[in-house]
Amino acid sequence: MSWPDPLNPAPPVNELEKERPSFASYDAHYLESFRVYRERSSESKKLFESFQTHIPPLIQSRMVPECQRLNILSVGSAEGTTDLMILKIIGQEVQKSDHGQRIEIFNRAIEPNGSSCGLYREAIKNLSSLLGKTQTCFEICQQTFDDYQETKKDEIKFDLIHFIHSIYYVDKEETLIRCIERELSDKGHFLSVVQTTQDLNYLVFSKQKRPTKEISEKSEKLIQIAKKYGWNYEVYTTEYAIDFTHVFDPKSTEGNLLLDFMTHTVDYRNTADKQLVQETLAFIDEKTVLKDGKKIGKGEFSLVVISKRCDM
Ligand SMILES: C[S@@+](CC[C@H](N)C(=O)[O-])C[C@H]1O[C@@H](n2cnc3c(N)ncnc32)[C@H](O)[C@@H]1O
Repeated sequence: MSWPDPLNPAPPVNELEKERPSFASYDAHYLESFRVYRERSSESKKLFESFQTHIPPLIQSRMVPECQRLNILSVGSAEGTTDLMILKIIGQEVQKSDHGQRIEIFNRAIEPNGSSCGLYREAIKNLSSLLGKTQTCFEICQQTFDDYQETKKDEIKFDLIHFIHSIYYVDKEETLIRCIERELSDKGHFLSVVQTTQDLNYLVFSKQKRPTKEISEKSEKLIQIAKKYGWNYEVYTTEYAIDFTHVFDPKSTEGNLLLDFMTHTVDYRNTADKQLVQETLAFIDEKTVLKDGKKIGKGEFSLVVISKRCDM
């Protein structure tokens, strides 16, 4: 099987949703608000710790002598920051294994946002310091997961498929069936990170009462589906902190971007219904605590790992 050409990705898709564009499709603004969210929360650090604990055992089971290549599918990869975090951990596992020098990694990323794809391509130009000696090949496909499914031409099976905060944008049951039954290798693992219902992000977004496809669903939904189809699953939940201090300052660019990120709205403070804005700010105030002069709220995510049953 030949390696896909990373310089010739799948054709771009301009529209994410037909009726109402997703907030994530407002390229630059979305990325900027996502950057502020990352800076103002400890989520990235906690994600890394969770991946470092839970991904190596999943990869070790693939490190058999005949394994020459690990195939990874990342869906909703944005500009690749989290993908690279995961690849670093996997690269370290590959290096540790007896057969490390010979195992290569193939990472396919599916992301509809054009700016994110561009940043991802920039980020992978010089990876030698991050991934050491492990040879890694990237393919970045600028398209939605549905379009990827429709246009996919190869029969590659993946050892790891991950949706990090991106399962919200697709039909969960249909996606899980496609991934587990069609895309995953026999001993592969499907991994998804989702907000829990205790997460203040989730609670703030839920308050907006908007008809949109971007409704965050709980890990329970993924577990329900796994149970229905008889797949094995594990759930690991982690808390983290979000600094909301600047949200209360109407002139703060950072605060306004953080509000936009949480409500999935461009310029939320000035464009949303005034009463709803007031209620949302009052809600954030009520749900945060003052620590060292900062207003801190609770974030929480679950890492859900789903695998095919070995006896099937
Ligand atoms: C919250 S971001 C998560 C990014 C990344 N996985 C991370 O954790 O850093 C969600 C990403 O999913 C992408 N996305 C939205 N709809 C999608 C779809 N239908 N198929 C694939 N990706 C999608 C967005 O463009 C965005 O980059």
